[in-house]
Amino acid sequence: MSKVVVVTGAAKGIGAAIVQRFLADGWSVGALDICAQEGGDRVLPLIADVSNRAEVDTAVDAVIARFGQIDALVNNAGIILRARVLDTTEEDFERTWRVNVGGVFHCTQAVAPYMVARGEGHIVNISSGHALIGGYDRAVYAMTKAAIEAFTRNCARELGGSGILVNAVSPGFTYTEMSRESLVGERKARVEKRLPIRRIAEASEVAESVFNLATGKIPYMTGHVLRVDGGWSNSDVDYGQLGN
Ligand code: NAI
Repeated sequence: MSKVVVVTGAAKGIGAAIVQRFLADGWSVGALDICAQEGGDRVLPLIADVSNRAEVDTAVDAVIARFGQIDALVNNAGIILRARVLDTTEEDFERTWRVNVGGVFHCTQAVAPYMVARGEGHIVNISSGHALIGGYDRAVYAMTKAAIEAFTRNCARELGGSGILVNAVSPGFTYTEMSRESLVGERKARVEKRLPIRRIAEASEVAESVFNLATGKIPYMTGHVLRVDGGWSNSDVDYGQLGN
């Protein structure tokens, strides 16, 4: 029987690339998203809003009913909030927090018991360079990503004794729907000039690291944040100078 991964935010961008990477290795995938997706022999598409615990539970139950087990969970679903602190509404704050942080919490709580029961599993949470690097118009988004990194370290300690490794991948500038509109023209050129690797990542490159972590190809590592960012976190890219 093939191994099984649950990927959230699976319909587009980095999540879709993660799904493709697992499928290429013969895994079965429970693909959660708020958007509809195509199914297949080894893909179970599930409409679920990760901010809603009941929807997450229903989706995870469906994955277990179809595939029988869950070997890996990738908490990828996330939304960006581009707004300065003083302009951020309570509604935007709540929504961003509930999706980005609530989603990771809900899916971990729903999936981890199945891993605990079998004494093995991998959880990979998707953070962002903004967890580490101050910006100018995304404080709440950055705050949610820092929370995900803290949650990753705590889950690693709590779940390690049950054979579950919990890590995070922190992408940098990556071409997806979320970022494509802002990574064009002069702005793109300015980012690329300052990035040590001199180019923006493709989603498949982030997916490769997620896959390696979630399949134990990087052994004996837990509670770690892998920064797959072309060196952004070690560079002088100043977000405020990029212009929005
Ligand atoms: P995207 O916007 O291209 O795709 C996100 C996917 O998540 C979409 O399919 C969307 O429908 C789904 N989604 C949104 N809200 C959801 C919810 N409440 N429940 C279930 N699914 C939901 O975004 P992208 O760029 O692929 O981002 C994926 C992750 O990577 C996010 O956590 C993001 O914060 C992170 N990231 C992205 C970077 C980038 O440059 N694109 C850089 C750093 C981090």
